[in-house]
Amino acid sequence: METSRRELLKVGGLAAVSGLAGCATATGINPLIPPVAKVIQDPAQVRTTPAVMGAAPTNHFNAREKPTYVPQNTDPLSFSIADNLFWNDIMMEHAMFFVQLMPGPELAGPRGQAEEFQRLFTRQLELSRDIRPDNFMAFNRASIDLAKRFSDYKKTMREQQASGKVRTLVWPLLFTHTAREADRFSARLDLYNRRQIELDRREVVQFWGTTMGEHSAFIAHLLDPDEKLLIEQANRLEKTFRQTGPRDVPGDDIMKAAHEVLDFKTIGEKGIYEGKIKSIISPPLASHVRREAVRFIDELKRTQAG
Ligand SMILES: [Fe+2]
Ligand SMILES: [Fe+2]
Repeated sequence: METSRRELLKVGGLAAVSGLAGCATATGINPLIPPVAKVIQDPAQVRTTPAVMGAAPTNHFNAREKPTYVPQNTDPLSFSIADNLFWNDIMMEHAMFFVQLMPGPELAGPRGQAEEFQRLFTRQLELSRDIRPDNFMAFNRASIDLAKRFSDYKKTMREQQASGKVRTLVWPLLFTHTAREADRFSARLDLYNRRQIELDRREVVQFWGTTMGEHSAFIAHLLDPDEKLLIEQANRLEKTFRQTGPRDVPGDDIMKAAHEVLDFKTIGEKGIYEGKIKSIISPPLASHVRREAVRFIDELKRTQAG
């Protein structure tokens, strides 16, 4: 299954979708809901924050105000600081979501483990402010160990949920999705410890394309069934990122699609915080997927610059 998915995801196939929709957008979403298309992006929501040594950890922020950290310079230290500040926070939030989605006394066991991961990543995020040239490799190794442990937990829980051995409110695909993010985090840190920081465009498009497609699917399933237009948009985005055939498309189409999914998430986040969209999407979850889209665009830009 993984192989065929990989085949499908090769650098998009976005042209097929824009051709299908016969419109100027890469994903075909905007013409569907003109009022949404007219919403101007809130620059604060799409802004990146260069990560500097000693940057404050983000876990005391309102989720909507959390910075999206990106490397300030092109060296392993800068990439390490940015990734530890970004991903340790993302991992902490995964654990927080699992805790929320594992109610009741019968789930006390896996919920307790998730609570422990939430504590561990909160601490690792706080410690990230002390990353320096002389300790970043050791710090990366500690983050790698933690991320691998969390990835193992997610993969085990995925099997248990899929086979009905446990009954949480976490979809198997959400365990798979968040385990992949943990694996990507540790794989990148491992590269930095070998003095490699380059981003491979195909890998960036495949990892983030898969991620954006699955986010769209999650959003479609968490919206109130009455939010038909938004569900339709989410389905179109999912199709763009997950179900299109392999083909070489110009880089601009990927970037365009990335901006469209970010627009959709930014608008969705605003509506969720303001209580204008009916859903069971928590505000921190809305911010979480929006920040990951901001990261996607940043990494995509870096592959073009390189
Ligand atoms: Fe995530
Ligand atoms: Fe994600």
